[in-house]
Amino acid sequence: MSGIPHDHYEPKSGFEKWLDKRLKVVALVYDTLMIPTPKNLNWMWIWGIVLAFCLALQIGTGIVLAMHYTPHVDNAFASIEHIMRNVNGGHMIRYVHMNGASLFFFAVYLHIFRGLYYGSYKAPREITWIVGMLIYLLMMGTAFMGYVLPWGQMSFWGATVITGLFGAIPFIGESIQTWLLGGPAVDNATLNRFFSLHYLLPFVIAGLVIVHIWAFHSTGNNNPTGVEVRRTSKAEAQKDTLPFWPYFVLKDLFALALVLVVFFAIVGFMPNYLGHPDNYIEANPLATPAHIVPEWYFLPFYAILRAFTGDVWVVMFASWITGGIVDAKFFGVLAMFGAIAVMALAPWLDTSSVRSGKYRPMFKWWFWLLAIDFVVLMWAGAMPAEPPYSTISLIGATYWFAYFLVILPLLGVIEKPVARPATIEEDFAAHYPKADASGDVKPAE
Ligand code: HEM
Repeated sequence: MSGIPHDHYEPKSGFEKWLDKRLKVVALVYDTLMIPTPKNLNWMWIWGIVLAFCLALQIGTGIVLAMHYTPHVDNAFASIEHIMRNVNGGHMIRYVHMNGASLFFFAVYLHIFRGLYYGSYKAPREITWIVGMLIYLLMMGTAFMGYVLPWGQMSFWGATVITGLFGAIPFIGESIQTWLLGGPAVDNATLNRFFSLHYLLPFVIAGLVIVHIWAFHSTGNNNPTGVEVRRTSKAEAQKDTLPFWPYFVLKDLFALALVLVVFFAIVGFMPNYLGHPDNYIEANPLATPAHIVPEWYFLPFYAILRAFTGDVWVVMFASWITGGIVDAKFFGVLAMFGAIAVMALAPWLDTSSVRSGKYRPMFKWWFWLLAIDFVVLMWAGAMPAEPPYSTISLIGATYWFAYFLVILPLLGVIEKPVARPATIEEDFAAHYPKADASGDVKPAE
C-alpha cells in the first residue's frame, strides 16, 4: 500500500475552506482519528476505549434513571422499585447502569495494571498518569455516592461507615463529617447532596478524560516495548506507526464487542450476582446488617483500611509518637489513601531507565506478585475483620507499600535489563514477518 495517510487535514471544498478558517473542528477530528499510533500495540491497549464507552453508557443510562428516581428518604427505595416494575425497560436500564459500574472498574483496573507493567506512567507520560489517577479517585467518589441512592440497607450503612472515616481525622474530623453529611447522621440532606454530586461528577470525569487523551496525544502512546516512535524523520515515524483510523478503531471496536457479549450475558442472566442482597431491604437506621461489605471494586482498599488495627506495632508506634492523636482508625484512613497516593507517585518512584516490564527480568516477578496481592486483598476485604483475614490483609497491605516505596526504587539500581528491540518497526517485524509497511499481511500465493 502506498502512502499511509498520516498527513494533516487539508480542507478541499469551498465550504470546508470557509469552515476551517473560522473553526478548525474538522481538522481536530481528522487529526485525532489519523493520529500516528505505534503499530505494535497489543490487546491490553483496548481498555481505554472500553472505559470511554463505559463513561458514555453510565451517563446515558443515568440520565434516564434520574428521570424516574426520587432523591428523598421516604421515596428513594420505592422509586427504584417503580423503575424496576413500571417504567418501560426500566429494569434493563437499571441493571445496565448497576453492572456498568462494575465493567467500568474492571476495565480501569486492567488499564492501570497495563500501565504499571509497561511503564506507561514514566516520563514523559506523568501527566497522563496523574490525570488518570484523578479520574480514578472521582470514579470511586461517584460510585460510592451512586450506591447510596437506592437507599437500601447497604447503601445506608456503607455511607455511615465510609463518611465515619472522615470523623477519624484528629480535631476537625467531626466537623468535616457533619459538613459532608449535612447533619449529624446519614439522612435526607445526605441523600440529596449525594444525588446532586453523583449526577455532576461524571461530567467532571468526562472533562478530565479529554485532558487525559490530550496528554497522551501530546507525548504519543506508549507501546509494549516501551521504545519511543522515531521522530527524526517523517519516513521513520511512518515505519513505526499506523493511523488510528481504521486500524485501531476497528481493533478496539472488535474487542469492545467481545467485552459487551460477556457484559450483556451478565446483565441478562445474573444481574444481581455482583450486588449484595441486603440492598433490596429498605434502609433502616435502627438495624445494622451483620456484615457491612462495600462493592467488589472497593475491597482491596477496604482491606488496607481495616488491616491496621490497634495491636499492629506501626500503629502503636504512630500513636505513641503523636501522643495518641493518630489512632488505629485514623491510621487505617491514612493507609487507604496512602495506598493510592504511592501508586500515583510511581513515575517518580520507579528509577529504572527501561520502560517496559517485558525487558526487566526481576521487575516481572514483583509486578505479578503485586497483581496477585491486589486480588488477595480484594478477597480479604470481603471477609470478616478477624484472624486470619486481618493478618492476610496486613501482609497484603505491607507488600503494596513495599512494592512502590522500596522495590520499584531499588530494582532500577540492581536489575540488569535484557536486550530490547531498537525500534518499534523491528518488534513488529519479529511478530509479523510477512506484513508490509501498512501492516497488511499478504495472503499466500
Ligand atoms: C474514564 C476513565 C479513563 C478513560 C476513558 C481512559 C482512556 C484512555 C485511552 C483511550 C487511552 C489510550 C489507549 C489505551 O491505552 O487504551 C489511555 C491511555 C492511558 N491511560 Fe487512561 N483512561 C481512563 C482512566 C485511566 C486511569 C485511572 C489511569 C491510571 C492512572 C490511566 C492511565 C493511562 C495511561 C498511563 C495511558 C497511556 C498509555 C499509552 O501511552 O499508551 N487511565 N487512557
